[in-house]
Amino acid sequence: MLQKLVEQYTQKYKHKPTHAFFCPGRINLIGEHIDYNGGEVLPAAISLGTWLVVAFNEDRLYHLDALGFEETYSGGLLSKKRNNHWYNYPLGVFHILQQEIKTVQGCNMMFAGNLPLGSGLSSSASIEVLTVYALCTLFKLDKSRKEMAILARKVENEFIGVNCGIMDQYAVANGKKGYAMLLNCATIEHENIPVSFGNYQLVIINTNKPRKLVESKYNERYSECMDALNHLQKTLPIKHLCALSPAAYRAFAPVFEKELFWQRGLHVVEENERVKQAITCLSKEDVLGFGALLFQSHESLQNLYEVSGVELDTIVAFCKTYTKCIGARMTGAGFGGCAIALVHEHHFEDFAVELMMHYKSVIGYACGVYKATISDGVMEMDIEI
Ligand code: GLA
Repeated sequence: MLQKLVEQYTQKYKHKPTHAFFCPGRINLIGEHIDYNGGEVLPAAISLGTWLVVAFNEDRLYHLDALGFEETYSGGLLSKKRNNHWYNYPLGVFHILQQEIKTVQGCNMMFAGNLPLGSGLSSSASIEVLTVYALCTLFKLDKSRKEMAILARKVENEFIGVNCGIMDQYAVANGKKGYAMLLNCATIEHENIPVSFGNYQLVIINTNKPRKLVESKYNERYSECMDALNHLQKTLPIKHLCALSPAAYRAFAPVFEKELFWQRGLHVVEENERVKQAITCLSKEDVLGFGALLFQSHESLQNLYEVSGVELDTIVAFCKTYTKCIGARMTGAGFGGCAIALVHEHHFEDFAVELMMHYKSVIGYACGVYKATISDGVMEMDIEI
């Protein structure tokens, strides 16, 4: 991918790029829709991701291209996003960082990626963190990976307009090969957790559902949680929902006039508890226990939080009937996108074939099934090819 990118760049701009970078996507093992509620989540960076090659130019403008995309951008900085073009992500980063860059130098950037877009594997966080990391390197800004993740989230919240939490940007900035990270979203600190599933293979299943309404539904869930929190704050001095244990939360059921808000909050506090249980399972190498928590998490996201959909539910229901699969759930925002599953390594091929046939017969189009590889976070690449 990098070689192709360098060739295309050189052909277009008639000079070689000076720097190259890579940023992965992520999966979330467990802890869904709780990052913006101050919870603990367990994401991991994956080997699929986004590449960028870049060099300063003489014309003081920003030229942005991406392999496989027709839209390109040439011009100065924008103060707000333009339609839903891919280049809003890097331009959002320039916008947020412009005070610090304080430069009149422009640059040529060319991106490429192999993350299925809008599939819940954080293609947007990948390009945001990639651009932040590249600009910090090019303009010699001294920022930690945590600070870079916070900046990238700001782009998503303020420039793109999605009220996302910190999980995705943090995960793709801080990933470590072979480890998931237990990220406390209230303190924004993490601990690396070795993941080994014994004879079980971690699998990613893409619904291939065309992306629709994800951002607006996501923002709706965010406000529902804030409403639930506001109700509780009338009686409790808490900063976020995850400050409560499920038992403490249940005691406050009468505070809620709206059943819906109560239900959303219940998912949040129980999911936070499941993350703690998942960590215990991993420390004891209890893969079956971990798998069971994945199924429970999905059920809650399907019924209490209502962010799944027929495509994801079809996949998880199939996984429950397949004896060599011990756990599965949607990963990321939901409403389509991807699921993850734990499948016995000797049965991966059969699982993939049977699931694909079943999914196509129910949904009408194919799903994608891949082995997941847990990898490092954003990095500079060697450009000598
Ligand atoms: C998206 C958001 C994250 C997180 C997940 C759901 O990926 O970007 O911040 O809220 O959804 O867990």
